[in-house]
Amino acid sequence: MAHQITSKTSISGLLGNPIEHSVSPIFQNKLCEIMNVPSVYLPFRVMQGDLAKVVRGLQALNVKGFNVTIPYKTQILDFLNEVSEEASLMGAVNTVKIYGDKLYGYNTDGLGFIRALESQDVCIEDKNVVVLGAGGAARAVVVKLAQKGAKRVAILNRTQDKAKNLSELVNERVANVAVSAELARDLIDKYAIDCDILINTTSVGMWPDINKCPVDSKSIFINKPVVFDMVYNPLKTKFISIAEANFCKAINGLGMLVYQGICAFEIWHEVSVPTKIGIELIAVLEQYFAEMQDFR
Ligand code: ATR
Repeated sequence: MAHQITSKTSISGLLGNPIEHSVSPIFQNKLCEIMNVPSVYLPFRVMQGDLAKVVRGLQALNVKGFNVTIPYKTQILDFLNEVSEEASLMGAVNTVKIYGDKLYGYNTDGLGFIRALESQDVCIEDKNVVVLGAGGAARAVVVKLAQKGAKRVAILNRTQDKAKNLSELVNERVANVAVSAELARDLIDKYAIDCDILINTTSVGMWPDINKCPVDSKSIFINKPVVFDMVYNPLKTKFISIAEANFCKAINGLGMLVYQGICAFEIWHEVSVPTKIGIELIAVLEQYFAEMQDFR
């Protein structure tokens, strides 16, 4: 049962639009309960043009902080007093802490990605990684891969310029990694041949297009130790299914979702959440999805 709301209960939440399908309130409130933190997490659908009013209102109400999702991850930067180095590298903020009269911005997506991999005993250091996609999610992932000491990161994207821009940014601002950018369909076989970790950051394969796969070549899955798909709807994408059929360690996007949320929770409430609680929250969401009629 959810913990009791009292006059001491604090508030955090999620700003975005649309947010009706977000599962963050499900696992964040469960996390408050498990960690025995007297707080509630609420969804706030924010209309275009209302962001300034909403942020001021939350600040006036002494809210602990909030997550930010589409379409406000960059717009929110205008309202922040300080932005973490990570968020500024990623060019987007997904977590805001309100402290006194100041707003602090963070990006926990990259750390969430790393914690999801580490919880599955996957280590990044000295690995050859192929990243499919070069959007916002890829940026968080590639920055973190570079910071964590990946040996080589190849970014393959439909629009090569975007992959190039991302590789330049990471090569300039994060040392010690050979990041290269190519056109996905042309060169996937070349890069995939000795790759240790294959990562999909595109939305290809997401519901309702569940029969799509971000790569054509099935041979690239052969002998891949780790395959990660950022998509979690459905939990088993075509990409994940092919990886499993080829005996890869296949990891879906649910762990990254949960751990980026855990990192935000830790920032708001100044506590440390053990990894095993993340695993418990992933199970809670798997159960939730299994019971949902409109979620595949
Ligand atoms: P996000 O913040 O989730 O990363 P995004 O910034 O819109 O979202 O990026 C989506 C990524 O998925 C991009 O790399 C996009 O490729 P383009 O840069 O060429 O647009 C990729 N993507 C989306 N749909 C795709 C498709 N049908 N085929 C190939 N790549 C696709």
